[in-house]
Amino acid sequence: MNKIQSSIISKIRSRESVIAILGLGYVGLPQAVLFADAGFPVVGIDVDQSKIDSIRNGKSYVQDVKSDHLANLVTSDKSDSASMSTQIHSTKPGKIYASTDYSIITKADVIVVCVPTPLSKTREPDISRIVSASQEMALYIHPDMLIIVESTTYPGTTKDVILPTIQSANHGPFKVGKDFFLAFSPERIDPGNSYRTISDIPKVIGGITPECTSVANILYQSVINEIVPVSSPTVAEMVKLLENTFRAANIGLINEFAIMCEKLEVDVWEVISAAETKPFGFMAFYPGPGLGGHCIPVDPQYLAWKLRTLSYNARFIQLADEVNHGMPDYVMERISKILNESGKTLLDAKVMVIGVTYKADLDDLRESPAIDLISLLKDRGSHVSYHDPFVTEIDIEGLSLYRAELNTLTLQQSDCIVITTAHSTYDWEWIVDNSKLVFDTRNATNGIRNPSSQVVKL
Ligand SMILES: NC(=O)c1ccc[n+]([C@@H]2O[C@H](COP(=O)([O-])OP(=O)(O)OC[C@H]3O[C@@H](n4cnc5c(N)ncnc54)[C@H](O)[C@@H]3O)[C@@H](O)[C@H]2O)c1
Repeated sequence: MNKIQSSIISKIRSRESVIAILGLGYVGLPQAVLFADAGFPVVGIDVDQSKIDSIRNGKSYVQDVKSDHLANLVTSDKSDSASMSTQIHSTKPGKIYASTDYSIITKADVIVVCVPTPLSKTREPDISRIVSASQEMALYIHPDMLIIVESTTYPGTTKDVILPTIQSANHGPFKVGKDFFLAFSPERIDPGNSYRTISDIPKVIGGITPECTSVANILYQSVINEIVPVSSPTVAEMVKLLENTFRAANIGLINEFAIMCEKLEVDVWEVISAAETKPFGFMAFYPGPGLGGHCIPVDPQYLAWKLRTLSYNARFIQLADEVNHGMPDYVMERISKILNESGKTLLDAKVMVIGVTYKADLDDLRESPAIDLISLLKDRGSHVSYHDPFVTEIDIEGLSLYRAELNTLTLQQSDCIVITTAHSTYDWEWIVDNSKLVFDTRNATNGIRNPSSQVVKL
C-alpha cells in the first residue's frame, strides 16, 4: 500500500474525509444524509439552485428523507459567495453543505457521482450529465481522491469515458490506483421502501484496480453492512443492468401472461397467487398498466444500445420493452370493451384514473404508465379526470390536468374508475361501493364485491 492510499484510508476511518455528492436527487440526497449521519462532513453539489435552496432551508423534496432529519444536518452558512475556506469550515463533521459550485471539490476527499442517466428522444443512452460532471470535477480534483460512480450506465462507461476525462485534465502525473482511486458502485435504493434502509442493501463495488476497490470498500464499510467486491467497474455496471433487466423481462413476461389469461378467461391474479406457493424456482411478479420509474424502463435500453454497437440484438430486452410499452394501449382497449358492454363508448365517457405515480405510496411520476393511459384515453375522446394523494397537477401533452376531488359524487358520476396505482391510503371498499364500473389493473380490489358495482380486473 502506497502512502497516498494509506493516508486516504486513515482519513476515511477517522471520518475526516470530506464527501462530495454530485447530483442531489432521489439517489444523491439520501446518500448525503447517509454519510452525514455516519459523521462525515458532506458537500452536496447540484446544478439545480432550487434543490440547493431547499436543502439549505432544511426542506426535503425526496420522500424517503424527512425534512426534520435533513434540517438537523444542514449547516447554517447559506452564503455561496463565502470564501472557499469559509465554505469548507461550514462543512462540519456530520453536516451537509449544499452548493452549485463545483470548485468546492478542491477541498473534498471523496466524490460520489449520482447524476441522472436518462434516455434521449430516440431512446438511446444520454450520458451527457455524467460527461459534464466528469469534466467539471476534472477541473478541481487532486491526488489523494476516491471517486465513485453510482449513476446507472452502460458497461464500460467508468473505464472508457470517466477515467480518460479525469486523466485528460492537466494534473501532472496522475495515475489511477496510485495517485487517485476510481470505482463504480451501483445504487440499489428501493424508493418508498421503509423497512429496508440503504445500509441494509449489500453494496457491489468494482474498482479500476484492486487498490481502487479496496479504498472504496473501506469507505462503504463505514455506512453499509455488507460489501460485495467484484473484479472491475464493468462487472459492477453489468450487475446493475442484470438486476434491472431481470425485472423488466419478468414484468414483460407477466404482463403478457395477463393478456394470455384474459384470452383464456382465467384470472391471472389467482394463477400468480397459487404459483407463488411453490417454495423454490418461482418468484412472483405482477402485471400492471405498464412499466414506470427512472430505472426499470430505462436501464435495459443502456445495455441494448451498448450491444448494438457490437452488432448484437438484445432480444429479451427488446421483447420485454415491446410488451411493457404496449400495456397502456392494452388497458385502454379493455376499458373500451367493458364500456361497450354497458352500452357506452370511450368517446365522451367519463373516466376517472386512480393513482398516477409509477409506484404505490411514492410521489414519483417519471415514466409513469398512468400518464400514457390518460393521454390515450383523451385522444379517444374520453373526459378523463384523475386522483392521486401525492400529485396535484400532471402534464398531458403540454396541458395541465389538475387533481379531481375524490368523493362519492365524483365516483358516482364517472362511467368507469380505472385503478392504475394502488396507494395504501385508498379505501378500496368505499371506492367499489360508490362506483358503477371499476377496471382494476393492480388487483387492489381483491376480495371486494358489491352487487351494484361491476369490477373487472386486468
Ligand atoms: N431513483 C432511483 O430509484 C434509482 C435507483 C438506483 C439507481 N438510480 C440511478 O441513479 C442516478 C440518479 O438518479 P436519481 O433518481 O437520483 O435522479 P434525479 O433526477 O432524481 O437526481 C439527479 C440530480 O442530479 C442533478 N444534476 C444533473 N446534472 C448534474 C451535474 N452535471 N452536476 C451536478 N448535478 C447534476 C439534477 O439536478 C438532479 O437533482 C441515475 O443514473 C439513476 O439511473 C436511480
